[in-house]
Amino acid sequence: MDRIYLDYAATTPVDRRVLEAMQPYFTGIFGNASSVHAAGREAKAALEEARATIARSIGAQPAELVFTSGGTESDNAAIAGVLHAAPADGLRGIVTAAAEHHAVLSPCEEYGRSGHPVFVLPVNRYGVVEHESLHSVLKRNPLLVSLMYGNNEVGALTPLREIAAQVHATGALLHSDAVQCLGKIPVDVNELGVDLMSLTAHKLYGPKGIGALYIRNGTPWSPFLFGGGQERGRRPGTENVALAVGFARAVELGVGAMPEDRLRLSSMRDELEKRVKEEFVGVLVNSTSAERLPNILNVSFDSSQMPMQGEMLIVNLDLAGISASSGSACTSGSVQPSHVLTAMGRDTATAAASVRFSFGRMNTEEDVKRVVVVLKDIIARMKTN
Ligand SMILES: Cc1ncc(COP(=O)(O)O)c(C=O)c1O
Repeated sequence: MDRIYLDYAATTPVDRRVLEAMQPYFTGIFGNASSVHAAGREAKAALEEARATIARSIGAQPAELVFTSGGTESDNAAIAGVLHAAPADGLRGIVTAAAEHHAVLSPCEEYGRSGHPVFVLPVNRYGVVEHESLHSVLKRNPLLVSLMYGNNEVGALTPLREIAAQVHATGALLHSDAVQCLGKIPVDVNELGVDLMSLTAHKLYGPKGIGALYIRNGTPWSPFLFGGGQERGRRPGTENVALAVGFARAVELGVGAMPEDRLRLSSMRDELEKRVKEEFVGVLVNSTSAERLPNILNVSFDSSQMPMQGEMLIVNLDLAGISASSGSACTSGSVQPSHVLTAMGRDTATAAASVRFSFGRMNTEEDVKRVVVVLKDIIARMKTN
């Protein structure tokens, strides 16, 4: 059985061209980028070229990018660095939203426990923060607002451009997690007006374990890890040149192919959405009307019309050869419905009976057809069991 992978929002395979670009840096060009000798200088040159490529793709200056271990570290570093830089008697509040990734929500909770005022804004039924709620929380003079650009579960896009003006008018800083966006939609830090932005390589056919944090020049941000002076003193540790080179190559390829990829992905996404709506009663498309990423379709089966054991959906899809992602997460042994879907107003049972299909380069229209056939069979069986 040929498996169908529809979980590209979770991760992507490394593009062969990315692998080829990285390979020399594991063996031949292995120097420590901080060494002053020729081997070190060669590694350093590759690292800086990678930084410049990634920076260019988002409209940033190379010096504004810090390499990290991925999106999680970038999100944590954005928040921690801003808090560390703030004067002890200054502003301390952090604003975020209920549909954010745990890489933002969990550090915010942690800072909340240590006394920072944390405001978690609700989202509307499309998964987006409303202007009014942001407007009213900004009256509390927060230090930092962290709102993701593209939501990883439902694909909803935050209107960062409008929000940035609102946030900056109060003197707060704006961080955005754009991990799901690079290579899918245009990402330009100046157009979006962000002060900090998180990126990762493994969502766009790059290697796992490398990401970047964009820190706009002049943004008050202090390091919180100490050691060597790498990354201009902002992130100590021997630089992973091979992964940085792979990240840059993935960005180059991903941003180059974006216009066609975007059309192809959204056409498969739209076809699946249409077919699912036609075939099943009680199917709810999550975040259909908001501006959204081209590759994500998240559907729920309404518990009042089609009661079922939601968690079994993904298991059955997997048994039928389809890798998708569920609307629930296994936390400490118990299955919890997705915090994003519940924040958007889905009841617990409906949220648990949800599937995220996320398309990528290897998918075809045939995959869409097969998913519909398989889903029909699974739903028929689940209804009768
Ligand atoms: C929106 C978002 N933020 C952060 C992350 C974490 O990124 P990484 O896996 O590179 O740590 C992910 C990955 O799942 C994500 O989708």
